Parts: sequence; C-alpha cells; structure tokens
Amino acid sequence: MGGKAVGLMGHWLELQELALTENEVRIVRDVNLKVSRGSTAILGPNGAGKSTLLRLMHGLLRPSAGRVVWPQALAQAMVFQRPVMLRATALANIEYGLRLRGHPATEQRQRALAALARVGLPELAHRQARRCSGGEQQRIALARAWALEPQVLFLDEPTASLDPASSREVERIIREIAAAGTRIVMTTHNLGQARRLAEEVIYLDGGRVLEQTAAGDFFAQPQTLAARDFIREEVG
Ligand SMILES: Nc1ncnc2c1ncn2[C@@H]1O[C@H](COP(=O)(O)OP(=O)(O)O)[C@@H](O)[C@H]1O
Ligand SMILES: [Mg+2]
Repeated sequence: MGGKAVGLMGHWLELQELALTENEVRIVRDVNLKVSRGSTAILGPNGAGKSTLLRLMHGLLRPSAGRVVWPQALAQAMVFQRPVMLRATALANIEYGLRLRGHPATEQRQRALAALARVGLPELAHRQARRCSGGEQQRIALARAWALEPQVLFLDEPTASLDPASSREVERIIREIAAAGTRIVMTTHNLGQARRLAEEVIYLDGGRVLEQTAAGDFFAQPQTLAARDFIREEVG
C-alpha cells in the first residue's frame, strides 16, 4: 500500500539508542532503527511499549537517552487510540486544528468540510462530536488530522475499540491517506491489520525492537521465537 510517493529516497526518520525509563522501569530501550517506507506497523503484545515508542517518535515524550532524528523537517499529526473530541460540532473540531496551525478562517471551513467528506461523514458536520458513535468519532479524528495535510501521520491502535464494520471503514481511510502520499506509522496488536496496511513491520517486545522487516517476510518467516509465538497465538 502507498509508498510510491515516498520510497527509494532513503530514510525519513531515525531512532538512535532510544530509551525511556520511568521509575526505574525500562519501557523502551536500545532502539536503533530507520524508517523509510510509506507505511509501517509497530506490532507487538500489550505492554510491549508500542504507544510509548509512537509518542517518542512524535515528540510527545522526551527520551531518557538517545535521539529521534528527522533528516528533513516533516509536518506531523497523530491520532490517539481514544479520540479526544471538543464539546463542539464535528466541523468545529476539525476547524479548531486548522485554526491552531494558522489557516485563515475562510479556508478552515472549506478544508474541514472536504475532510469530513473524505472520511464519508459529510452529514455529521453539525452534529455534536461527543454524541457521535465511537467509530464516527475515530473517523472525525482522522478527518481532523488529514485536514492538516501532514507528511507523516502517527496512528495509535486506530481500530482497537471499534466493531468490524467501523474498523473496515477506518482501514479504508488509512489506505486512502497513505495513497495520497502521507507516510503512516501505526501501532497495532492486530496481525490482520498490519498485513493489510503495512509495507514494513517493526516487532516490539519488552520495549525492544526484535525485528524490522518487510511485512511479507515478517508473516512468512518471523526471525525470532517471540514473534513466531505472537503470530501463532494471534492467529489461534
Ligand atoms: N508513564 C508511565 N510510567 C510508568 N509506566 C508506564 C508509563 N507509560 C507506560 N508505562 C508502562 O510501559 C509499558 C508499555 O506501555 P505501552 O507503550 O502503553 O505499551 P503498548 O502500547 O505496547 O501496549 C507498560 O507496561 C505500561 O504499563
Ligand atoms: Mg498501546
């Protein structure tokens, strides 16, 4: 999926000796990697450190050691596992993000409406966002991020609490965002989702990167016992 607009140009994000320790617990450690693909899934069991690693990448957490290196400045956005909606309409939620980034008022409305249409929810424009269903709120959150036209979009477990129909719709939106040239880095503990959406898998366990491989290779031939067990358990 995606990647055509990105590929072949070397890495666009690098993590060097990255670590995060909280209360003497090593949540992320010894992470050295380069991200060069258009779509990457950070995969691993609960508590592996996936969300923490994503927040470190996005700059929401300061590492205890090591560095997050952006070879060139790229506009970033992030969508959280549980969407945070303002007490306002869906449209106002999307416009707010644009206002914060200094987009002119006339353009805010136009862009916000276009973003809602792209996630298939034009009819929700004037609905209170917090009264929308979980799946709708996640799509509004994606619209809010997409409206900013980020070059990199971080997604933390984008379908974790959604029913199958909403999950499919969210995956369709992610595919479209990637196809439009935005680089995606997403966490998931859902193998099928990683298989459907990612060109590359970073397998995390116990705060360490155990594997970083092309998605096809990861599923066909996981290199570590931990990843093999993880795949076996998830497939059932
Ligand atoms: N601020 C924090 N202080 C202490 N422990 C934390 C903190 N944030 C996360 N953790 C712990 O770090 C581990 C990794 O968390 P997380 O990144 O949320 O994992 P994942 O997203 O893979 O489920 C978990 O054991 C979690 O309880
Ligand atoms: Mg998580």
